[in-house]
Amino acid sequence: MSLSQLARSIKESPTLKLNEMAAKLRAKGEPVIHLGGGEPKSRAPLDAVIHCANQLNAGEVRYAPVDGMADMKKAVIRYHEEHYGRAVAPENVVVSSGAKQAIMVLLHAILDPKDEVVFPAPYWVSYPEMVKLAGGVPVVVTPEDGSFQPRIEEIAEACGSYTKAVILNSPNNPSGAVYSAEFVAQVVEFCEKKHLWLIMDDLYNRLVFDGRTPPNPYDYAKQALDTSRLVVVQGVSKMYAMTGFRIGWGVANREVAAAMANIQGHQTSGPSTPSQWAAIGALSGVQTPIEALRLTLENNRNVMLDRLAAFSGVKVQKPAGTFYCFPDMRAYGPDSAKLAELLLQRVRVLVMPGKEFGVEGFLRLSYCGTVKEITEGLERIKWALDPDAPNEIFIGDRKLVRDWL
Ligand SMILES: Cc1ncc(COP(=O)(O)O)c(C=O)c1O
Repeated sequence: MSLSQLARSIKESPTLKLNEMAAKLRAKGEPVIHLGGGEPKSRAPLDAVIHCANQLNAGEVRYAPVDGMADMKKAVIRYHEEHYGRAVAPENVVVSSGAKQAIMVLLHAILDPKDEVVFPAPYWVSYPEMVKLAGGVPVVVTPEDGSFQPRIEEIAEACGSYTKAVILNSPNNPSGAVYSAEFVAQVVEFCEKKHLWLIMDDLYNRLVFDGRTPPNPYDYAKQALDTSRLVVVQGVSKMYAMTGFRIGWGVANREVAAAMANIQGHQTSGPSTPSQWAAIGALSGVQTPIEALRLTLENNRNVMLDRLAAFSGVKVQKPAGTFYCFPDMRAYGPDSAKLAELLLQRVRVLVMPGKEFGVEGFLRLSYCGTVKEITEGLERIKWALDPDAPNEIFIGDRKLVRDWL
């Protein structure tokens, strides 16, 4: 079979391979613990479900406008005003099938072949492949000091005459880091000065801990929205635990928003109508589910950090948001994909290799499950890796013996 150059250039994800292995083990009745997931387990808000059900019942299920239904745009505008303090017009909003599609159509709208897109590591796994799909070249900035906080000098150094855009994702998947206000301000200023697009992937910015508020990029923008190249991406997936509804959006200047809508119109048309009804319900309903989820995740993070402290050799930077933790596991070997595979095989715990996120030797551990999953998962991992651990443990009523030493 002769596949296109593009298809061949897109990397197969080892994450999917691990997920498949885990699914097969589960199907065989193996007690797999999933610390690899990217979605909260809470139910979608009741207001989302009721609003969607009512509209379905009324038969409101036709094609939606390509860039989002009027009510959905109104809800996004209200959200944006409340959380970013910026008044935006319906023409600035493009509602997509997930934040992922919003980013994808934006990249298609702004990139010419070989244009470069700069983003810091660790990064969300999809950025490099999405940039390549849009014909661009991903350029990764790895903070030299080993922290998850890049410096403006490092971003500036990576930007050259081919650079078209910078992507910042804060709170960050996978590190959980929230970038400092000073850094965000510097990047906003730098991109304005250099006429670069700045994509702020803010998907997790309501899920922050320890009383923090993430920096608001508009606070530092000098240009008005319609002359600016700042694009904020958001969505209902993480904050309302509505991943399967596939609703996200971008807020951008009118010219690029129209181009995004045009591209989306030929790709998928408007996002699913029932999902938009649900998103409108969530955005317009009571907002307690976000706080309830945030509090649960903060507690889960504390439990995970507490358990990780018992590992000798594991270094971990405290996540300030999201539901991920990104410990340095190099004490147990340099190859994170091998380590993840080994943990699944030995103790049936699914974790994600850091290599996928641009930093080798680290693992991404999710704490969006239950406290029991976190404590038991880390207990198993510790047992698998600690040479001084007892020779046997029980998983449920199954005895595991360390036969690999
Ligand atoms: C940083 C980041 N951006 C975007 C997305 C995509 O979100 P959605 O599910 O709304 O497409 C994800 C999902 O994991 C993510 O982690």
